[in-house]
Amino acid sequence: MSKKQQYKLTTRLVHGPEHSAKWDFSHHVVPPLSSSTTYRLDSAKRGARGFQEFGQLVEDTGEAPVYIYDRLDEPTRSILEGELADMEQGEACVSFASGMAAISGILGSILQKGDEVIAHPVLYGCTHSLFTHWYPRQGFGVQRIDLNDIAKLKKQVNDKTRVLYCESPVNPTLELVDLGALRKLADAINAQRKPARKLLIVIDNTFATPFAQRPLALGADVVVHSLTKNLGGFGTEVGGAVICPKSMLASLLLYRKDFGAILSAKSAWAILVYGLPTLAVRLKRQQYTARKVAAWLEKQPAVARVVYPGLASYPQRKLAERQLVDVDGDFAPGNMIYFELDPKRVEAERFVDEIASSAYSITLAVSLGHTKTLIELPASMTHSSYGKAGGAVRLSIGLESPSDILADLKNALAATQTPASRNGRAVR
Ligand SMILES: Cc1ncc(COP(=O)(O)O)c(C=O)c1O
Repeated sequence: MSKKQQYKLTTRLVHGPEHSAKWDFSHHVVPPLSSSTTYRLDSAKRGARGFQEFGQLVEDTGEAPVYIYDRLDEPTRSILEGELADMEQGEACVSFASGMAAISGILGSILQKGDEVIAHPVLYGCTHSLFTHWYPRQGFGVQRIDLNDIAKLKKQVNDKTRVLYCESPVNPTLELVDLGALRKLADAINAQRKPARKLLIVIDNTFATPFAQRPLALGADVVVHSLTKNLGGFGTEVGGAVICPKSMLASLLLYRKDFGAILSAKSAWAILVYGLPTLAVRLKRQQYTARKVAAWLEKQPAVARVVYPGLASYPQRKLAERQLVDVDGDFAPGNMIYFELDPKRVEAERFVDEIASSAYSITLAVSLGHTKTLIELPASMTHSSYGKAGGAVRLSIGLESPSDILADLKNALAATQTPASRNGRAVR
């Protein structure tokens, strides 16, 4: 075990690598930001070696790899990838230009024409759109089945099924998928399959982050992330990442090289030196506030339903306590809240419009995992690709004072109550 591995993840996130197999920067306290599209090759032999070695896992031999061209590989991005693999307890990581590039990258590198994905019904809106709009045109099958319904899955998985795909917690409903149960099912199916056709569990861990959930240890094969959210953390960088077994690395790197959706070195650097070292402290603070806000919302007569894994009323509370555990071993219900207003008392659109015009501590904006508290209406915004109406509200808690967030929510509820409910006549 290296010296670094003897330390807690929170400490490893602050300090980063002791040194990197990808670059010699042992005298920098902060990893340097590299910015070079192309690399001097010294000799034709070195150039040929670079191309020959591309796609292989870089072993820590004390010698930096041969860099050729930014789109193939790049030192700052490589160091970030090493850190993300460490956080997720995975063997390898490949970063991408966005979360969607990471999702389409891993699935595109696994699936062949005629193969099929079974995906959970509710997903982030653009992932839903990828599956419904693009995959049928590209010859990939998609079935939508509740991944907690193991009996139904057992019936529906067939020889073409290569991937079981989900988010957990799900965006925006915060439902969880039982990864242990899914692992058991995949193992039983894989016992009858050749290694090259194994059924793979791919999970989007964007909501929890590896600080609050390590899906590979819970049974998943591959983890994807939008780095744009809590891992980046400050709302300044767009990025994505895939954490996968060594065996998938070559194909994934080749896919990224040829489709070209690379994470810029400048964004990788910001995530590496600002996002990751502050992840634990940000999430603990956001979660502290989210618990207070969820408990308060649940007591409001104008709020019909609150979904937050930290509430006693959360329907999958036992599963949440098993799966959402932070790196210190504490229950980690996270910073996301999903709630429904009682339309007889407060109309959701009027409520978020009131927040947009009057609140200072809450911003009407999509995205999540930001320093600022963000509110949105999934049905008409992030999840509009589902084409379904609905008045539920998604809240991503930031770093503000909890009492300010509560005051802004309270004022917006008071300002938008229907006249009938103000007179105490509304019924639930
Ligand atoms: C759960 C989840 N996955 C993936 C994405 C896509 O990430 P990006 O916007 O970085 O492409 C998002 C974006 O909101 C998301 O919420």
